[in-house]
Amino acid sequence: MDAAQFEKSLASVLSWWDEAGVETPALAPAKPKKRAPIKRENLQSAKPAAPRAAPDAPPPTDDAFAKAAADIAAKCKTLADLKAAVESFNAGGLSDAARGAVFSRGNSAADVMIIGEAPGAPEDAAGKPFIGPSGQLLDRIFASIGLGEDSLYMTNVVNWRPPNNRKPNESEIALCLPIIKRHIALAKPKLIVLVGGVSMAALTGQKGITKTRGSWETLEIEGAAIPALITYHPAYLLRQPHLKRDVWRDMLSLKARIAQL
Ligand code: URA
Repeated sequence: MDAAQFEKSLASVLSWWDEAGVETPALAPAKPKKRAPIKRENLQSAKPAAPRAAPDAPPPTDDAFAKAAADIAAKCKTLADLKAAVESFNAGGLSDAARGAVFSRGNSAADVMIIGEAPGAPEDAAGKPFIGPSGQLLDRIFASIGLGEDSLYMTNVVNWRPPNNRKPNESEIALCLPIIKRHIALAKPKLIVLVGGVSMAALTGQKGITKTRGSWETLEIEGAAIPALITYHPAYLLRQPHLKRDVWRDMLSLKARIAQL
């Protein structure tokens, strides 16, 4: 990291601490990162894996897409296999409405895996999770405890941007659930952070994040028991900045847990 990058990171972390209620010296906030969008023509893939209807057959059901997703996920032996399979998967209306799949960002060998909800427009354009405004806040939150892209592995429960940027519905989550479970099993994180109610509900079955935020749950994934911290989604914090204090407490809890690894 050069001096300019260091200064930018420092300013960013200090501003997050400031907003979380921790006393800091005043520094100018860093400018948001810019990433070149991926051209649509480069993302157009054959999408062969999903249920293909014969010309006169009825369209595949949600269950058929979910079964196809479970089948391809189960066959993948490495993260590279899974990424390729997801990128070429036909997830019906979900993948038809998106530019392409959004798989992951960061270091796949990191101890900590962050799981969000679904890509938004900036993530869909760039093919990487958490790069829009909420992702930039997420980066600052984790940088405040010394975790950058090298120490984190980021993904979402849903791999495609839901049409019109809406929340993913139950059948879209059900379709993607075998993929995220296999993703976790192959990445083998030591700790997971579930950001937001959608990823919490999908992976723990719990509802009501205001009650569960800050708690550690255990995810049983393919025989492994992985501790998972529940915290608010950064997009929620952008709307409710006073809750940054709670997330700061969650970060301290995560830092303490990492120290015990
Ligand atoms: N929100 C998410 O949950 N994930 C992203 O990748 C971007 C925004």
